[in-house]
Amino acid sequence: MSQTRVDSAPYRPSRRAALASGQPISELMHQALSRPELISLAAGFVEQTTLPLAPSKTAIDRLLTDVAAGRAALQYGTTAGYLPLREALLDRWLKADGVSPDSAQVSVDQVVITAGSNQLLHLAAESMLDPGDIVLCAAPTYFVFLGTLANMGIRSIGVASDGEGMLPDALEATLAELDEKGELPLVKAIYVTSYFDNPGSISLAEERRPQIIDMARRWSRRGRIFVIEDAAYRELRYEGEDIPSMLSFDEAGDTVISAGTFSKCYAPGLRVGWGILPRDLVKPVLEQKGNLDFGSPNFAQHVMHAVLEAGRLDAHIERLRGAYRKKRDAMLEAAEQHFRPLAGVEWIAPRGGLYVWVSLPANIDTGPKGTLFSRAMDAGVLYVPGQYCFPKEGPCQHNTIRLSFGVQPDDRIREGMRLLSEAIAAEMDSSDAEPIEAIL
Ligand SMILES: Cc1ncc(COP(=O)(O)O)c(C=O)c1O
Repeated sequence: MSQTRVDSAPYRPSRRAALASGQPISELMHQALSRPELISLAAGFVEQTTLPLAPSKTAIDRLLTDVAAGRAALQYGTTAGYLPLREALLDRWLKADGVSPDSAQVSVDQVVITAGSNQLLHLAAESMLDPGDIVLCAAPTYFVFLGTLANMGIRSIGVASDGEGMLPDALEATLAELDEKGELPLVKAIYVTSYFDNPGSISLAEERRPQIIDMARRWSRRGRIFVIEDAAYRELRYEGEDIPSMLSFDEAGDTVISAGTFSKCYAPGLRVGWGILPRDLVKPVLEQKGNLDFGSPNFAQHVMHAVLEAGRLDAHIERLRGAYRKKRDAMLEAAEQHFRPLAGVEWIAPRGGLYVWVSLPANIDTGPKGTLFSRAMDAGVLYVPGQYCFPKEGPCQHNTIRLSFGVQPDDRIREGMRLLSEAIAAEMDSSDAEPIEAIL
């Protein structure tokens, strides 16, 4: 029988698929993985040698030795997540905030476990936003969340920040401006990475936390404006004391959504994250999640609970802090040595987190199409162009770079910084370095 070749009918990408293309994360990961000789100061991965083999093995062994517990862990779980883990998480969060469980505004039914905190951010966005809605974000901010918003057809607008995070005055001015344009009803949320943010490793100052929450409530006259607090890096603190979460300032309990994760402080491979949600957001988020996966991987949740039960998490975090402090210092020392001699190159020394944010003279374009990016790649070093970290609308600094000290060992960090400084010096010297307006 002869076979007739049938041409495939054309694939018609969904609107969402079209909106998803061109996001930077996959391209950067591809660059890093396809050229292993490159020193990637781009990836926000955690340090390989700190990944907790021993506490995880103990937890898994214990879990699987107990037949009933092992079977329960290997079965489907509930949509909201493993109750003992949710209880332990809430307890830990309240303790960090200095709140006693009796006086707490939140209870365990407001805690939802997700596959990483990215999923929580996504589900929260799905539950409150429609295409054309607006989220106000600190500028710069976590570029993957900006991608999530873009993917959903949501407008992200940048609010100016300084060394202590989002500026309340700038937020007020942005809200007033949107109100004047009749766009206040579209504003549904304010997104802030409250501890050691990505990309600047800046924490939102304690006194600004209640101010931003009050502002969200005051401007909620055309519908609720939530504050999304992304606390992914809360535990990665190398200096100073912890400060209370934004959630702890939400006296009415209706405004703040807190997202947390074990990815940075334990193991991203387990992908256990969570959200603490205002009461009326719990059901919509669970309904979204029910349709998506009806529960995050149950085994990972049981493992994480066993690690917490055995009291192994805090010891691990202490170890991590020591390791990252050393790597941060290696990057900062290399910056002093190689960047300091370059006029107009500045950086923020982080007290926690995984990143160093660098600003170059205003006429240097750090973007993926600029010559510095290819010079750096040719020299053997990869960075994240700062422009990715700015919301679609609002100010954008094209002369910025995000560097991570998370994944590379000290000697590669130093070498990467040296190579990058040479690329920057060459770029600064190049006769064709034009004013940035001419490049864009
Ligand atoms: C600010 C911020 N939030 C959330 C996440 C998501 O982490 P995960 O989904 O692994 O919990 C990251 C990861 O890099 C991050 O930098």
